[in-house]
Amino acid sequence: MCGIVGYVGESKAQDFLVSGLKRLEYRGYDSAGIVTVAPEGEATLIRAKGKITDLERKLVENKKEDTIGIGHTRWATHGEPSEANAHPHQAGPLYMVHNGIIENCKELKKALKGHEFKSDTDSEVLVALINSFYKDGKYPLVNAVVQALKLVQGTYGIAVVSVKNPDEIVVARSGSPLVIGVGHDETLIASDASALVGHTKQAIYLNDGEVAVVKKNSIEIKTLNAEPVSAKVEEIETNLSAIQKGGYDHFLLKEIMEQPDSLTETLRGRVDAENGIVSLGGPGLSEKELRSIQHLIIVGCGTAYHAGMLAAYYIEQFTPEITIETVIASEYRYRQAYIPKNSVAIIVSQSGETADTLACLREIKKQGVKTIGIVNVIGSTIAREVDGGTYVHAGPEISVASTKAFTSQVIAMVMFGITIAQAKGVRTSILKPYVEEIAKLPGEIKQVLASSADDVKKIAGKYKKYDHAIYLGRDTAYPTAMEGALKLKEVSYTDANAYAFGELKHGPLALVDDRFFETAFLPKGMLYEKAISNVQEVLARGGHVIAVTNNQKFDLKVDDVIRINTSLELFVPILMNLISQLFAYYVTVAKGYNVDQPRNLAKSVTVE
Ligand code: AGP
Repeated sequence: MCGIVGYVGESKAQDFLVSGLKRLEYRGYDSAGIVTVAPEGEATLIRAKGKITDLERKLVENKKEDTIGIGHTRWATHGEPSEANAHPHQAGPLYMVHNGIIENCKELKKALKGHEFKSDTDSEVLVALINSFYKDGKYPLVNAVVQALKLVQGTYGIAVVSVKNPDEIVVARSGSPLVIGVGHDETLIASDASALVGHTKQAIYLNDGEVAVVKKNSIEIKTLNAEPVSAKVEEIETNLSAIQKGGYDHFLLKEIMEQPDSLTETLRGRVDAENGIVSLGGPGLSEKELRSIQHLIIVGCGTAYHAGMLAAYYIEQFTPEITIETVIASEYRYRQAYIPKNSVAIIVSQSGETADTLACLREIKKQGVKTIGIVNVIGSTIAREVDGGTYVHAGPEISVASTKAFTSQVIAMVMFGITIAQAKGVRTSILKPYVEEIAKLPGEIKQVLASSADDVKKIAGKYKKYDHAIYLGRDTAYPTAMEGALKLKEVSYTDANAYAFGELKHGPLALVDDRFFETAFLPKGMLYEKAISNVQEVLARGGHVIAVTNNQKFDLKVDDVIRINTSLELFVPILMNLISQLFAYYVTVAKGYNVDQPRNLAKSVTVE
């Protein structure tokens, strides 16, 4: 999604604005812009369609020593990607950047006859509205911002500067994150804390409905109703190495390869393998509340949804008397679904900012249902609005395609399920195998990545020519197939879709021909032979099959086999998913596409 940065202090604003926007590139964008203001009030606005490098080329001729400014990377919603539609937008003496969507921009625009619109964006309507209250500086900027925001329906994260008083930035948020970095004789603004790393470790996360006047040595926060808000300064946990490529060609490969470490962080202090016990601090549910749970609703989008699907398969294996449904947030939020009593909702989100997931959370909370977050980004909106939760601590995930977060989310949810089972008195002998395998998982991931990466890289080049793919699995290998298909789809633009093996004969088998290849996930177990006969049905119709299996005796005649050598029995699908991640990465590299920022996608979908 779009990125916002802002700076007021004693250094060159342009430097932070550009470096900060580069940190936010991973969120996906199609144009960028910055504006700085000189002490005497001269504004320098530079905008460019395309990438930040295009913006930097324009900056060469426009270097300024100004010490205040704002910047933005735009992911087009209203109005095509263009310089005219790029932010910052101007209205009179004001310049503004905006994340979110102004739902009632058409009505608001009608009342702004005095403004000559130069873009097709809803954001320009907002800055024109603010200016209509600012009256060329007759009123304090913050008052004009508040007056305007009270008329707005929709979501926003904004930063506004005026050439009339170039020593303050006014910021406000509702539904789109903003964080204020507290520096020494400088204050920084960003829509994502990763832009602040290396500048300050002190951050204030703005909440919905709050507006702040930010100066180099002061931050004053109020609600839209002018109630003072005491700023809560929090520690930014991320460090520089976590948001740099660390020698890898792409963030995607780095994040795939760092899963042994990221999962270790997820497990830290939470797993006692020797005694078969899990202890999660965060959910905030009493033993009694845990014992009373009879229904789980697991909510997410995309990969987070797939993580919920896979976790549900595991949890129902050891907590027999609860029902579990995994739902797509964008669907569930509009359904009239009955939520039985003694339900708990698990809200899964890497970014903690996904609009549909956040909206779904709010709908579920309205029904008085306890909500538990399984979130990666510390301090994110979802993390702060759930009743309790468990941070997965996978570290910043920069690549648009989610990989390490998936693994950590699944295991964090399984650990939450074990916590419920422990409270319900499920015998340790039933739970211990899961706990023991969870403890072993980082090491198993490490050895699978080390042993399989080259094999996968070798075959990937062979499959880049296919435009279509079918991913297949049964039981816990079915959500694995779903996630694998999404990975390949979103980075290599291959039309990859997943089906439960048992569904093949109900339609998808008709697809099998030379246009497709099939990836079959074949973990050993009670359904293995059934899956093998499904693979034979595909082969009998000329299918081109990649088999991913932990059966070292696998001997079916298929196009390619990726063997996983592991002592695990329960969490083999987590290891199989590593193969999907690597395969998607290497196919995309072979195709020469943008691995970390696939077309049309954003890392955090903060609009509906
Ligand atoms: C996954 O690779 C995609 N980037 C996307 O499906 C993502 O999982 C989805 O948008 C949910 O994001 P969240 O986990 O940040 O809520």
